[in-house]
Amino acid sequence: MITVTVCVGSSCHIKGAREMIARFNEFLTKKGLEDMVELKGSFCMERCGEGINWKINDEILSSSSAEEGAKMFRKKVLNALKEKTPEGPAEGPGGRRI
Ligand code: FES
Repeated sequence: MITVTVCVGSSCHIKGAREMIARFNEFLTKKGLEDMVELKGSFCMERCGEGINWKINDEILSSSSAEEGAKMFRKKVLNALKEKTPEGPAEGPGGRRI
């Protein structure tokens, strides 16, 4: 399961966090990935000046717009899912690649 957390603090909200979440949801529904990606909201991530802030697992990301965030989301989520499939690279204890 991949966890995607989007800041829904006031600064990110004004920049389009809500629209970005809607686009993330739309993509997951279209691709049938709702059960593989958990979408969560968070309070201010204390990076208000960076753009719309969000995370894929522990990787912190910033997007200048909902559109840019949606593009990044598609690419990163598909890559993350590819790494988790049995055909993908094997992982040792602690998620380290072996
Ligand atoms: S409101 Fe999103 S980082 Fe502060």
